Amino acid sequence: MTSALELPPAVTARAPAKVNLELGVGPRRDDGYHDLATVYQAVGLHDDVTAAPADEWGCTVTGRDAGSVPTDEGNLALVAARLLAERSGARQPVHLSIHKQIPVAGGMAGGSADAAAALVACQELWSVAMERDELDRLAAEVGSDVPFLLHGGTAVGSGRGELVTPVLAQGTYHWVFVPVPGEGLSTPEVYAAFDARHEGRRVSEPTPGAEVMSAVRSGDPSALAAALSNDLQPDAVALQPRIGEIIGAALEFGALAAIVSGSGPTVAALASGQEAAIDLAVSLTASGAAEDVLRATGPVHGAQVLPTPRLT
Ligand code: C5P
Repeated sequence: MTSALELPPAVTARAPAKVNLELGVGPRRDDGYHDLATVYQAVGLHDDVTAAPADEWGCTVTGRDAGSVPTDEGNLALVAARLLAERSGARQPVHLSIHKQIPVAGGMAGGSADAAAALVACQELWSVAMERDELDRLAAEVGSDVPFLLHGGTAVGSGRGELVTPVLAQGTYHWVFVPVPGEGLSTPEVYAAFDARHEGRRVSEPTPGAEVMSAVRSGDPSALAAALSNDLQPDAVALQPRIGEIIGAALEFGALAAIVSGSGPTVAALASGQEAAIDLAVSLTASGAAEDVLRATGPVHGAQVLPTPRLT
């Protein structure tokens, strides 16, 4: 039995954001979720979560949009850490220090990234040896995107998104993400708008498109641009019309394609390469079309422990 004194003082793990290259949404299921056929890509915007032994459970949040993140029982990183403690028998409470780079409520799975990072950090802190499948199942209990953020890379998501199958992908893709100013969008609200739009019509089961798969295999950004799709986009745009304007501006300034990331409202614009991404980012901000842009490449790896804990 390891005594508390022998535990490392703190462990930091880093998890990426995601963009859905394709988001096919099926009918609403009896449990309220929707079956998905999605292709995830992990991108190089990261949140860091530092887990330190503490007398009681808690968390603090710093960085981008920190004020909008709950620090109570509902915080997804805390939910994940407590669930891992319960399942693994680890008794030591932790304080989680979350440092955010990923926009909050932006459709890039920031909360799920925090949960994935918390799982990886606490697993290391408590020396929990858990089979990958078991950790994936636990992650899925926290949120549909959490298993993918443990894996990273490019992957097909099925079920409600929690069943992850890696995809062989080539190349590096250059993205410009435009967070839409304001409140963000609530994922359930966007799915509810999708349901309302399809009221009285049959929604067919989604199937992963061959086009996206062959595009990511080719490594050609133009092929990927032509294949990007998101069934939730009309709903996100209807809820926040500013998204449509930003998509228009991104296309006007040379993006190969621009779509809503996940349930939005962040706009994901794909550029042909690094220089094009820099030009696009500059044009979007200099013209006033965007207040803020974030550049990132994908795919990147999933949640992992950093060699030294982050000093917060
Ligand atoms: O799984 P997660 O907690 O991230 O999902 C948040 C909400 O998004 C769900 O409560 C549900 O309203 C909606 N959702 C959905 N179908 C999915 C994933 C999420 O309806 N496949």
